[in-house]
Amino acid sequence: MFETEIIVIGAGAAGLMCAAAAGQRGRRVVVVDHVGQAGSKILISGGGRCNFTNLGVAPDRYLSANPHFVKSALKQFSQTDFIDMVRRHRIAFHERRWGKLFCDGSARAILDMLLDECAVGRVDIRLGHRVTGLSKSDRFRLDTDRGSFVAPRLVLATGGLSIPKMGATGFALDAARRFGLAVTETRPGLVPLRFGGDELAWLRALSGISLEAEISLGKRRFREALLFTHRGLSGPAILQISNYWRSGQAISVNLLPDDDAIAVLAERKASRPKAELKTILSELLPARLAHGLVDSHLPNPTMANLSKGQLAQAAALLNGWTLVPTGSEGYGIAEVTLGGIDTDELSSKTLEAKKVPGLHVVGEAVDVTGWLGGYNFQWAWSSGWCAGQAV
Ligand code: FDA
Repeated sequence: MFETEIIVIGAGAAGLMCAAAAGQRGRRVVVVDHVGQAGSKILISGGGRCNFTNLGVAPDRYLSANPHFVKSALKQFSQTDFIDMVRRHRIAFHERRWGKLFCDGSARAILDMLLDECAVGRVDIRLGHRVTGLSKSDRFRLDTDRGSFVAPRLVLATGGLSIPKMGATGFALDAARRFGLAVTETRPGLVPLRFGGDELAWLRALSGISLEAEISLGKRRFREALLFTHRGLSGPAILQISNYWRSGQAISVNLLPDDDAIAVLAERKASRPKAELKTILSELLPARLAHGLVDSHLPNPTMANLSKGQLAQAAALLNGWTLVPTGSEGYGIAEVTLGGIDTDELSSKTLEAKKVPGLHVVGEAVDVTGWLGGYNFQWAWSSGWCAGQAV
């Protein structure tokens, strides 16, 4: 039986940040994880360069049943605080579009930084420990296949359900339920969308095409890369909208977000009367996409013969192509999990469960999901740090 002050379950982004913060306050911390590698999602994140935060972090970039919940943690430990830490560790980074910050080199630098911070706090990290039991009497008791741990404080930092093959489990959600905490409905987020039937048949033929587009659903709109895949649509624009999409809803794709397609086509009708519509669209879009759109959705007259109705039909497709996904690619490749432990159950300042003193929940296990672009790691850093100050 190993006695300590704080047990953190999960050596991911939030768990390591929490452990480092608590350890540096002089608290005795043990981190337990069932896989043999700490921070495995950090290592594969951002295409191997880890999009570790975003200059534009703000509460409205997060989805949660309570949109105000993130405010306290994001204020207590902001993107600036994390960037300061990255600078202190002399990790070179750069900004990409929409305020996204990435390492110049490998994502490993971010993991090494967290492990160094844990070492400063003398955190005891136990990897490859399969959890076999969790209970609470006067203290929390965690049983694993390699021994048991007891402590007056426990932090659930086992993340969400995304990418089970990397070690994701529903552990935090199940444990929370067992402690009597409510869990909101979960679903895959930041995930490619699938299509079926005739739509998929012709989308599949476009597989590999990528272009910038604006995708909208209700009031939400995201302008980023759109990628055609053999199962449907992907790319950052689709991942962003997937967080808001619900089964049965249509999404709208603006393939020419800078242009009024009616005006562009009317101008080409006057200046290029002999050109076929397909030729004109090939000048505005990747040729394979233009051909696919015309073959599946439009007639192909010369511009001179393009009727007013046909011009309007083509323009509507270019500026507001409406599609109804049949589903998402699921947890197997989703970057995050939407939903999670109900924020009503937790203090927004300390992430401590109101009903279970000493129990804290951090990171993706909480019903907080960010946009694509470094927002999810920032939530992990902020929530982890706040819990680390309180445990
Ligand atoms: P995280 O998943 O990081 O850690 C949970 C830990 O708990 C893991 O180490 C796991 O092994 C452990 N665990 C799980 N079940 C357990 C059990 N039963 N017993 C013991 N241990 C258990 N975000 C971002 O902001 N920028 C980016 O660039 C990316 N890129 C990205 C790429 C890909 C491919 C994915 C899948 C995700 C991203 N993300 C991202 C999202 C980001 O990785 C995610 O939001 C954070 O890692 C969440 O941090 P947590 O610490 O909450 O969970």
